[in-house]
Formats: sequence, structure tokens, C-alpha cells
Amino acid sequence: MKGMILYFARGLSRAAPVFSRSVHSSSRSASVITSKLSTERPLTSEEIYAREEKYGAHNYHPLPVALERGKGIYVWDVDGTRYYDFLSAYSSVNQGHCHPEIIAALNAQASKLTLTSRAFYNNVLGAYEEYITRLFGYDKVLPINTGVEGGETACKLARKWAYNVKGVPKNKAKIIFAEGNFWGRTMAAISSSTDPSSYEGFGPYMPGFELIPFNDVPALEKALQDPNVAAFMVEPIQGEAGVVVPDQGYLTKVRELCTKYKVLWIADEVQTGLSRTGRRLAVDHEEVRPDLVILGKALSGGVYPVSAVLCDDEIMLTIKPGEHGSTFGGNPVACQVAMASLRVLEEEKLAENAQRMGELLRTELRKLPKDIVTTIRGKGLLNAVVIKETKDYNAWKVCLRLRDNGLLAKPTHGDIIRLSPPLIIKEDELLECIDIIQRTILSF
Ligand SMILES: Cc1ncc(COP(=O)(O)O)c(C=O)c1O
Repeated sequence: MKGMILYFARGLSRAAPVFSRSVHSSSRSASVITSKLSTERPLTSEEIYAREEKYGAHNYHPLPVALERGKGIYVWDVDGTRYYDFLSAYSSVNQGHCHPEIIAALNAQASKLTLTSRAFYNNVLGAYEEYITRLFGYDKVLPINTGVEGGETACKLARKWAYNVKGVPKNKAKIIFAEGNFWGRTMAAISSSTDPSSYEGFGPYMPGFELIPFNDVPALEKALQDPNVAAFMVEPIQGEAGVVVPDQGYLTKVRELCTKYKVLWIADEVQTGLSRTGRRLAVDHEEVRPDLVILGKALSGGVYPVSAVLCDDEIMLTIKPGEHGSTFGGNPVACQVAMASLRVLEEEKLAENAQRMGELLRTELRKLPKDIVTTIRGKGLLNAVVIKETKDYNAWKVCLRLRDNGLLAKPTHGDIIRLSPPLIIKEDELLECIDIIQRTILSF
């Protein structure tokens, strides 16, 4: 029954009390809702956009497409139109939409035990902790929910380590970030941001954060000489900044300098990790080991918010009971989902596939005329095309036409379009997508 989800079935009964609350709701909007309640017809895409616009905060600018179903590399809108998903929920759905093994793990645990909080032990958390620490080769994991909480956790660990181990004087610890970084929208995350749309209007900001240019080894060395520096936190490839790939050897230098100046290296692998760039972690391209690794997004295959910080005992054990945590962090459902998600990445060899498919994608797209597409860059299946904007076209218009041609992608920062399909994509499917992208761009 394509697109035939009824308005009732979409939970309007839960929303109904809002409308009877009356103080701010006009009688007109109440009557509109009442008439929809009685029609029992599916909403059109336009009505779905309008409802979100009316009742939701305006903190996103979605591409106009209203999705209702996903399977593997595809998503379907409410009219039943199928699209290739070339965003993968910002690299969360690496394993493909609704991967059967991940959904089975979710369902099995969801009907058994969902949440104990960390006030008690449960029989799943330890199994997950053992699995993920062995897989990545760290002593311990701290489980949380979202990527930004992973960043917060890593920063807290680094500060605690700086005071307890490095001997930084109380409240003097500094964390260095790279310009162009993105790790979420909490107060700490925006305090390290160089993007005005993230930080402007939300001050005052977190003290103890400093910025240096990305991919700049001399600037890093200068900054690390300050004895109060606890950590350097960096994405191995800057995702939101537009898939900015540093020079080969940069991560090796980061490792060397952090070791030399006794500074912790925090790798934010929330977007780049978990096979996305053609290796299990993006740092594996240079075979270097950060002191702390932050994971999120695809740690759940996109079915549930799961994130984690991995590090060794010298760092992790500086945090004592009560000093950090989260009600949902490490809950049994999250743990089962994460184990299934990691197993799928390994068993289906998705890093290898991402590496091969990424090379094919870049090779083919580099054949596009340079006066329209100025740059194609990326690693594995984390890629960006840079569009030369004119008065006739820009990245947003290209994305709209890609949608019309059956492929969903989203601009990141004006003229850049990120291309990051699920890692399960096969060669013939990718070739079809490449054809869509080439035809779309050439149509301008
Ligand atoms: C590199 C990186 N770190 C952290 C985050 C924040 O993750 P979340 O949105 O799950 O909090 C993101 C989100 O895009 C990210 O790209």
C-alpha cells in the first residue's frame, strides 16, 4: 500500500492534546486538524512539509522529499517513488537501511530488556564492552548515545587526565581544535566552532579551547608546546566542512607531535569511522593509533543513537563513579544493536567495498567538465563534489535535480555536495548512480 499510511496511524492521537490546549492555537488550525482527522487519507508531501514547518522548530532546512521507507541503499517517499540514498543519514546508515541482522538484534533485545540505567548491571553491556575494545584494540570503552556526547566525553577525559596525569594546574587545561571542525551543537561543540551559523548568538563560550588551521603541522607543533595543552581533537577527514582530506602524512605527524609533547590525540571518527573511508577507521590509512577514538552514527547502523569513546586505562580510569554518565548510555538495546552493526561491517567486508567503490566513483566523476565541477575529493565512500556556482545553478539546485532523477544528496557548505551512499552498494548500482549524477550535472 504505497504511501497509504493514514494520518491516524501517524500518531495524531498523541498530538491531539496539543490542539485542545487552546491558549496559542487558533480555532482555524484546530478545525484544519479536525478535518484531516476525519478524512483518513495519507498526507501529501506538501502537507508533510507544512506540518513540520508549523509544529517543529526551524533548525533544519531539509531537501523537499518526504520519506516513509528504507531498505538497503534505497529510500521511498510517500508516493512510492524510489531514490538512491547518497547521504546515508550523514554516514550513519553505512550498513544500509534496516539491515536485517541489526533490526533482528534490536527487536530481540527490545522485547526482553531495554533499559536498566547504570544503577544496576545488565547481562549485555560487558559483552559489548569486550567485543568493541578487542575489535579496536583499546583497554576500555565509555558508552554513550550521540556523537556530540562522544566529543564531550573525550574532552572531559582529556581534562581529567591533564590534571591527574600530566600535572596541568587546576582549571588551566587547554584543548586544541582544527578550524573547520564540526562535532555537534552543544555549548562545548559550538565553542570550538569556526562556523558562525553554529556559534553566532549563543555565547558566552567554553573557555580553554583554542584553534589552529587544519592540516598545518607547524601550527600544531607551536600550539602543543604550551605545557597546559591536554589534547588535540581532530577529524581525520573534515566531514561537515566539505569532506576536506588532509595531506598524506598529516595524521602520522599528529601522532608524533602529540607523543613528543605529551598531549592526547583525540580522533573524532564519528563520521569517518566504521568503514566509511575504506578502512575500519580513517586513521588506519596511515596506520596510526590515536589516544582516544570517538565513534557514533554507524555504530548503530542508523537504527538507534549509540556512541562510544575508546581509550586506554591511563586515561579512562581518571574518571570515577559519578563523574560522567548518561541514563541511556550502554543500555542493552544499544549494546546489541552496536554489536550487530560492527559484525555486519566486518562480515560483509564493507571497508573493502567502500575503498573499491570510492575509487570507481571518483574516477568516473572526474570525467565531468571542470567548468561545472571544480573538484572531486574524498576517501572510500565519503566524497564531495565542488560545484562552480553561477546564477543558473548552485549545489542546492543540483541536489533538487538529482532528487528528480532519483538520487538524494545534500549540499554541505554552499557549493559542496557530499556523496556518501551506504557501503553495501554494488558496482552495477554505483554505475547507475554515477550515470544519474553525470546526466544531472550535464543538464545544467
Ligand atoms: C565528525 C562529527 N563528530 C560529531 C558529530 C555529532 O554527532 P551527533 O549529531 O550524533 O551528535 C558529527 C555529526 O555530524 C560529526 O560529523
